[in-house]
This record gives sequence, C-alpha cells and structure tokens, in this order.
Amino acid sequence: MKQITLEHVTKTYFIDSESINAVHNVSMEIDKGEFLSITGHSGSGKTTLLSIIGGIVKPSSGTVLFEGNDVSSFDGDRLSEYRCEKIGFIFQFASLFQNLTAKENVLLPVVFRTRRNTLDKDEKRAVELLNLVGLGDKLNAYPSQLSGGQQRRVAIARAFINDPQLILADEPTGDLDEETEAEMMRYFTKMNEEREITFIMVTHNTELARQSKRQLRMPVS
Ligand SMILES: Nc1ncnc2c1ncn2[C@@H]1O[C@H](COP(=O)(O)OP(=O)(O)OP(=O)(O)O)[C@@H](O)[C@H]1O
Ligand SMILES: [Mg+2]
Repeated sequence: MKQITLEHVTKTYFIDSESINAVHNVSMEIDKGEFLSITGHSGSGKTTLLSIIGGIVKPSSGTVLFEGNDVSSFDGDRLSEYRCEKIGFIFQFASLFQNLTAKENVLLPVVFRTRRNTLDKDEKRAVELLNLVGLGDKLNAYPSQLSGGQQRRVAIARAFINDPQLILADEPTGDLDEETEAEMMRYFTKMNEEREITFIMVTHNTELARQSKRQLRMPVS
C-alpha cells in the first residue's frame, strides 16, 4: 500500500462572489521513504496542498488517503493523532510561540501528543535536536531574541520531536544562508535515508529541488 494517495484533489476558495481554484485536480501516489519536492509559482497552491495532506484544510473534492485511510474522515482524537504523531510540520511563516523559549517550543508537540508534562528523556531529545540545528547555545532564548534563520531552525528541530513518519516542509530553508541551508538539507537527507521518513518539501530553490528524488511542479491554474 502507498503511504499517501491523492485522488483528484481540488480546493476552491470563495471570497465574496469570486472563486479561487487554489489546487486543481492533483492525483499522485507517494511511497513511504520518498523525498518529494514541490515547486511552482507563488499562488500556485503549494501551501494549500501541504495543508490538505496534513489534515489542516479539507479538500473541496477528491480524497487524500494516508496508509489507505481517508484523511477527511478523521476527526477529534484521530485527527490530532494524525497531525501530532505521524507528521512533523515546518510551516512557511514564523510559527513559534513568542512566550516560550526555543526548548519549550521544540517540546510543545510532545505535550500535545502525550497530554502530560515533558519528561527528562523528552528534554534530552529537544536539546539534542537543537544541537543538531546548531542552536545548542540558544536553548533558553525566546523567539524575539533569535534571528529569522535561527527561529526557522527551531521550527525544523520541533518537526522531528515526535519521531514523525512524514515531514511536511513549506520552504523550510527560505531564510537561511547557503551554508546553513545545505546543512539542513544534509540532515533531511540523512533522516530520509536512515529512518525512512517521507519528505514533502516546498521550495523555490531549483537546485534543492533537483537534489530530491522526485519533483512535482504545480501547474498554473
Ligand atoms: N484561506 C484562504 N482563503 C482564500 N484564498 C486563499 C486562502 N489560502 C490560499 N488562498 C489562495 O489560494 C491560492 C494558492 O495559495 P497558496 O498559499 O497555496 O499558494 P503557494 O503556492 O503556497 O504560494 P507562495 O509560493 O506564495 O507561498 C492563492 O491564490 C491564494 O490567494
Ligand atoms: Mg506557500
């Protein structure tokens, strides 16, 4: 069975009397352990597609299956379990909680998943991840005390805290310098190869897209 199957996925938004076809009839199958990059013009529906796969936005028509189950049919605990345990999200825009430190931000998905306070082993893992993204010296810094690229790296660390099966990354290296970007890509590739984590990554960087195993270019609607 494929890990993810998209069947004629369409999303139409309505603003006043105008309709916007954000995603138009996308069908594809993605195997566990694939590294798929998505490119396409601004406004071509890349973020919308990731949000549909992640169960954040419901498609107007068509279906998304995760391990054979229809994601739109998930609700309540099943939906939280899907989002929290299976997926690590790296959002396009700043998504850190301003009143939590870097380490607390990384730990937040653990609290959502387990509905308990974090344990020593969770904290150790958060520190390990922050070290991996080069922020071992910023554990207790608040987002306002971090640069844009550093905040982005906290969000990258956070995406891995629950050992996800799938990473949905929306321009994850958008505000990083070339060297840090390459370092993050090496980490993604390593996690992809060693742990068979599936990656779906939106990027404007055609060089990065070329490095991935498979590419999807969003059509202009
Ligand atoms: N919540 C919404 N309500 C109405 N229209 C929306 C909404 N979200 C997105 N859109 C519209 O859907 C289209 C696709 O948006 P989306 O954010 O998916 O594009 P994108 O490919 O991620 O663009 P970018 O590269 O600029 O991030 C755009 O025309 C956008 O204006
Ligand atoms: Mg986008």
